Amino acid sequence: MRRTAPLLLAVLALLAAGCEKKTRQPAVGEEQKGGAEQPVVREAPGEEDTLLLGEVGSLTGAQATFGVSTRNGIELALEEANAAGGVKGKKLAVRVYDDQGKPEEAAQAVTRLITQDKVLLILGEVASSNSIAMAEKAQPAGVPMITPSSTNVEVTQKGDYIFRVCFTDPFQGYVMAKFAADHLKVKKVAILQDNKSAYSMGLSDVFTEKFQGMGGRITTRESYSQGDTDFRAQLTAIKKTRPEAVYVPGYYSDVGVIARQARELGLMVPLLGGDGWDSEKLFELGGSAIQGSYFSNHYSPDSPEPRVRQFIDRYKKAYGGVPDSMGALGYDAARVAIAALERAESLTGPAIRDAIAQTKDFPGVAGTITLDENRNAVKPAVVLQVEEGKTRFVTTVNP
Ligand code: PHE
Repeated sequence: MRRTAPLLLAVLALLAAGCEKKTRQPAVGEEQKGGAEQPVVREAPGEEDTLLLGEVGSLTGAQATFGVSTRNGIELALEEANAAGGVKGKKLAVRVYDDQGKPEEAAQAVTRLITQDKVLLILGEVASSNSIAMAEKAQPAGVPMITPSSTNVEVTQKGDYIFRVCFTDPFQGYVMAKFAADHLKVKKVAILQDNKSAYSMGLSDVFTEKFQGMGGRITTRESYSQGDTDFRAQLTAIKKTRPEAVYVPGYYSDVGVIARQARELGLMVPLLGGDGWDSEKLFELGGSAIQGSYFSNHYSPDSPEPRVRQFIDRYKKAYGGVPDSMGALGYDAARVAIAALERAESLTGPAIRDAIAQTKDFPGVAGTITLDENRNAVKPAVVLQVEEGKTRFVTTVNP
């Protein structure tokens, strides 16, 4: 596995893309070691006094905003914790591996974090398929893993070391079905699903079941595979069934293109989606074609809540843009992890796992976090509408 060049390029690309607007404190200064298999490293010097966490994310690839936003949120939480004295008298650091959005890479990164870097716990991923692949490695090794934002039910079913600080897709699918039935008052909805993504297929199933349960009809379910560029055949088939809306539970990278092709073909009804739409890139890719459409999400940047406003201000100062939900959930996941490390009776896998499991009424930016017996957070969802270059808060739906 010699991949020095791609990694170096990835780092350079991130720098060039201006994703790194931050000037770091020397204490948590970035240390990019050259050489094969070297991750993007953010560590305090004196390792003896450092508690090392692991992180896996898509810092490059089609869904790069997922990994970059999450990393920003995590980094912000660590800096705040270190400024406040760290944990158990030690500073925190995180070793980050880029999985390029691929499940196999994500799994390998976990193995490396465990065997080579010997991290205390692992944060990541965003895409459910990647988190599932990671959980399959973390669970048997007894290393706790917290996914900030993977919503597919299977993720935490991998075992008692696997947690999430977000809601799950049975809830998220219900939210959009209810929104379609009660708010948009539509009866006929078509679905365009990504058959390569556990997340998309799961949401498609839940939406179908819930929407039918509310008296709605699914006119057709068409499929594509992540990374496809031509969706016209599926969209034409969908148009023929004359739906009043189309549910597209995919990732922003595909959804933007789907929206444009739908409008070109004269399919003008609202598109509906889930948290996978959440990226500033959606506005770019979808242009005016995506405006007016709706998606369910973890938090709204319009929230007037003081703790949300404060987080947004800090994030903007550090990274120069409004945080999306991965920024917020990365921050929340890291803070839950830090609080658990502080509470844990010792820094062993089982003790850390037990401490995470006890998370209760934790004031997250994307809602208050209480972990249930299945290691999932139970929280409200918001519905956002896409406007020109931003989202608008529409409603909150409680579990
Ligand atoms: N929930 C998505 C998944 O499980 C990932 C995601 C979370 C995307 C939050 C965007 C925002 O695959």
